[in-house]
Amino acid sequence: MRIDILTVLPELLVGPLGHSIINRAKEKKLVEIYIHNIRDFSKDKHKRVDDYAYSGEAGMVMTIEPIALAIESLTKQRDYDEIIYTSPDGESYKQKIANTLSIQQNLIILCGHYKGIDQRIRDNYITKEISIGDYVLTGGELAAAVICDSIIRLIPGVISDETSALTDCFQDNLLSPPIYTRPEVYNDWKVPEVLLSGNTKEIDKWRFEQSLERTKKLRPDLLDE
Ligand code: ADE
Repeated sequence: MRIDILTVLPELLVGPLGHSIINRAKEKKLVEIYIHNIRDFSKDKHKRVDDYAYSGEAGMVMTIEPIALAIESLTKQRDYDEIIYTSPDGESYKQKIANTLSIQQNLIILCGHYKGIDQRIRDNYITKEISIGDYVLTGGELAAAVICDSIIRLIPGVISDETSALTDCFQDNLLSPPIYTRPEVYNDWKVPEVLLSGNTKEIDKWRFEQSLERTKKLRPDLLDE
């Protein structure tokens, strides 16, 4: 998979995409990530990439040309499966979207900033608009990092125990059950008896019941889906 990220703040992405599992995925050539500075495509002598909104609204808007030139410089070279725009007014990001994106070959992620981007970019280039939650970040970079992290870990070979990605929370619309490790007792707090029984059938039943109970309590909306 190849991911091209367009941003005005490349340094915000270097850290989140430069460590641990994501870095190993890059080293194993399972993913290539290219971070492009939109400013490099500005023809303005001060490298400006924003301007005032026609509506007179407060806040700056990202202008068309540098973004259009950045996108076209990429689409000229290869086909992209999706051109994603990160924005609080996009579709709510869910595991199901991560699953679908993880089997694509080439993705562009455009990080929003300021008050937003000129609507004509959204109308003419963007194929998917994603919000990572009902709150507003200062920019789309952290959202882009979240999207990259969630899809790269699903690429076969990235996580060593492949079943662990399949049994994640949300893969079956249930929250994960509680999990324990040694010691068996700490401060009088005991690991549930069933987990020490070695009876895998009983353990699976217990885990499912715990998942269901937790989902009913914390995320009943998932059970309606
Ligand atoms: N940019 C600002 N807030 C955002 C959010 N919640 N999701 C995606 N991109 C954003």
